[in-house]
Amino acid sequence: MAKKIIKKIGVLTSGGDAPGMNAALRAVVRTAIFYKLEVVGIMRGYQGLIEGDFVPMESKSVSKIINLGGTILHTSRCPEFKDLEVRRKAIDGLKEAGIDALVVIGGDGSFRGANDIFKDFDYPVVGIPATIDNDIYGTDFTIGFDTAINTAMDAIDKIRDTAHSHDMVFFVEVMGRDAGFIALHTGIATGSEVTLIPEIQKDIDSLVDYLKIGRRKNKTSGIVVVAEGGHLGSAAEVAKAVKERIPSYEVRVTTLGHIQRGGSPSCSDRVLASIYGYESVCALLDGQSGVMIGRVNGKTVYTPFDDAISKHGAIDKSWYEITKILSV
Ligand code: ADP
Ligand code: F6P
Repeated sequence: MAKKIIKKIGVLTSGGDAPGMNAALRAVVRTAIFYKLEVVGIMRGYQGLIEGDFVPMESKSVSKIINLGGTILHTSRCPEFKDLEVRRKAIDGLKEAGIDALVVIGGDGSFRGANDIFKDFDYPVVGIPATIDNDIYGTDFTIGFDTAINTAMDAIDKIRDTAHSHDMVFFVEVMGRDAGFIALHTGIATGSEVTLIPEIQKDIDSLVDYLKIGRRKNKTSGIVVVAEGGHLGSAAEVAKAVKERIPSYEVRVTTLGHIQRGGSPSCSDRVLASIYGYESVCALLDGQSGVMIGRVNGKTVYTPFDDAISKHGAIDKSWYEITKILSV
């Protein structure tokens, strides 16, 4: 395929916000300017793309945002983008505005949309993985994951104080959609007694047996980290089932919710976002398209959207076994 001439690029953030999206945006804008490209911010993800809600970006437009959570471009879930005619309108709008290529910062849903416009219209698009869930194939880490697990860890440390003081068992629900990355990492980091993740089946009786072993070893309190997409249901459902089997337990439930999506990005997320932002512009200038930037084993890799959306980032199941050994 002949390399297309790129003079002006658009950048958008889409799907669930993630800490570090602003740092990625800043890097895209500054790199584009460095290479003498024009750059346009597209507001509210694919919604703004359809509506032509474009804002010219200068170097100053991204000043003092590297430390900010959320996304200054705003984001959206935009189901209409699944419609080919809606996407056609979006591409017409991009062409009318003279925008030659797009950087999409988001999760796998966003890359489905990006892949569609790449394939249907042969339009140059590069993706930057940003989601707290860390569930994307083609990268070891997504932007936002590190901040989210640190937020969850801090929260669980605080909950531990109360669990310990009152001899309680807390069931703490963390996000992650259908992936257990957040749960597994925070479970290890907080020394939780049990971690429940979607990737590993566990029945309620074995969970109860495990908690009872802890009691026999004089553990008077406990933390059970429950991934939101787990087999045994929500933290509230798991807590109820445990209480029915061991009525003497004082159980409490905390759902951490959207605090995991917010806040100032960690150092790792800022660095990752800055590198991805830079590399996404370089990739477009190199003639790459239909790919997502990622880092695997310390190296930058470009994964076709087809793979990034059809495969799933996988947890290291041996880590789950380690959590069991460490919590006994
Ligand atoms: P994330 O990018 O964080 O996974 P979503 O799954 O909500 O978040 O996807 C973000 C947006 O990407 C959706 O609101 C929609 O606009 C677009 N999108 C998702 N799936 C598709 C699809 N199959 N085809 C086209 N666009 C899609
Ligand atoms: O993908 C990020 C995420 O926070 C998931 O962990 C969670 O399942 C989902 O988004 C929640 O989405 P919403 O904020 O739209 O309810």
